[in-house]
Amino acid sequence: HGYFTFDPGFLATGSCESKITYIDGDNGVLLHRGYPIEQLATEADYLEVCYMLIHGEAPTSEQYEEFKKTITKHTMVHQGIHEFFGGFRRDAHPMAMLCAVTGALSSFYHDDLNIADPKQRVRSAYRLIAKIPTIAAMCYKHNIGQPFVYPRNDLSYSENFLNMMFSVPAEEYKVSPIIAKAMDRIFTLHADHEQNASTSTVRLAGSSGANPYACIAAGVASLWGPAHGGANEACLKMLAEIGSVERIPEFIDKAKDKNDPFRLMGFGHRVYKNFDPRAKVMRETCHEVLSELNIKDPLLDVAMELERIALEDPYFVEKKLYPNVDFYSGIILKAIGIPTNMFTVIFALSRTVGWISHWHEMLSEPSQKIGRPRQLYTGEAKREFSPIKK
Ligand code: CMC
Repeated sequence: HGYFTFDPGFLATGSCESKITYIDGDNGVLLHRGYPIEQLATEADYLEVCYMLIHGEAPTSEQYEEFKKTITKHTMVHQGIHEFFGGFRRDAHPMAMLCAVTGALSSFYHDDLNIADPKQRVRSAYRLIAKIPTIAAMCYKHNIGQPFVYPRNDLSYSENFLNMMFSVPAEEYKVSPIIAKAMDRIFTLHADHEQNASTSTVRLAGSSGANPYACIAAGVASLWGPAHGGANEACLKMLAEIGSVERIPEFIDKAKDKNDPFRLMGFGHRVYKNFDPRAKVMRETCHEVLSELNIKDPLLDVAMELERIALEDPYFVEKKLYPNVDFYSGIILKAIGIPTNMFTVIFALSRTVGWISHWHEMLSEPSQKIGRPRQLYTGEAKREFSPIKK
């Protein structure tokens, strides 16, 4: 009532109540609906996690089967969505296309959508979870000039995504179980992370009662930046720039130099001042995938050496700058054969469930209010306007 706290960057502002995700950044704890991420990443699959994020409880086997069936039913997109791609430059960034096409879904599902009805909110969530891999793979196919691959209902969520990415009409892609598992784990580990920039964006956009597909497009836009989801792409670009193990010390020095804006991409986190628990699991998967695929890539050698040095260097140790989840996910995605400009798209695909679960939770609150932060005005004091003609 007349007073507010000034908190740029929201370092000390709790914007809402939520029952979805708990983070203890000092101790490296992450729980979804109370379940530890380490357990979910190794013992559940992504769709189970999606179900619990939306509904609050892990599914029974019956609920899980029903959920899987519903998601599978919704994987196709309207033919009109295909046509949007014709308007994009062939080399358009896939995040630009994802943002536009996700937003365009609102033109298919708007007039008959009553967001006050929880059942309809859940249906929007299901549609988004089902369609986002189809759209993500279409962004890639458009870039490389190949025909779109239709979703296949006999495959798991991650297998279907890989198939839509890598199948070509002349040759069906053989989905390796190790890669499908790694992909599922990447989805799971990115599924939600409480009030990060993109989730807060979705909540703020949705707090006015806006269309959910348009709100998700806002989340995609926020995620794109290199300080957030864009870090995995920026990390791989950085590894390419470093180029060889011998040049690592030069870049470590640049990262420590306060007069140089360069930062080690894929290191540090606003909340985790300890090893990010997701990064721990991702690290294991990363080493597994690399040894399983027996890939020899100088960039991966640079990544492994960078990890070793940064974990020992006093600058990074004192500032608690650990490799984050995107450091390892970028390496895995590269090993799987996914191009760098698709990395953030995969993050967006995985996070869609988190975004829409928060949107659903927010609209379930009886006293839900529009989000409306205040500001500290530092402009001119009141002054006289003088018209041009004078
Ligand atoms: N390399 C070098 N120094 C760093 C780095 C880094 N990656 N990250 C932070 N620092 C330093 C920073 O210079 C500052 O030093 P000082 O106290 O001497 O001024 C100190 O550590 C604290 O940094 P901050 O910018 O105040 O911390 P923040 O909480 O505002 O930023 C961050 C967190 C993730 C934006 C930042 O660590 C960063 O830019 N990292 C690289 C980008 C990245 O990997 N982002 C992905 C985050 S995880 C995925 C996601 O949630 O989207």
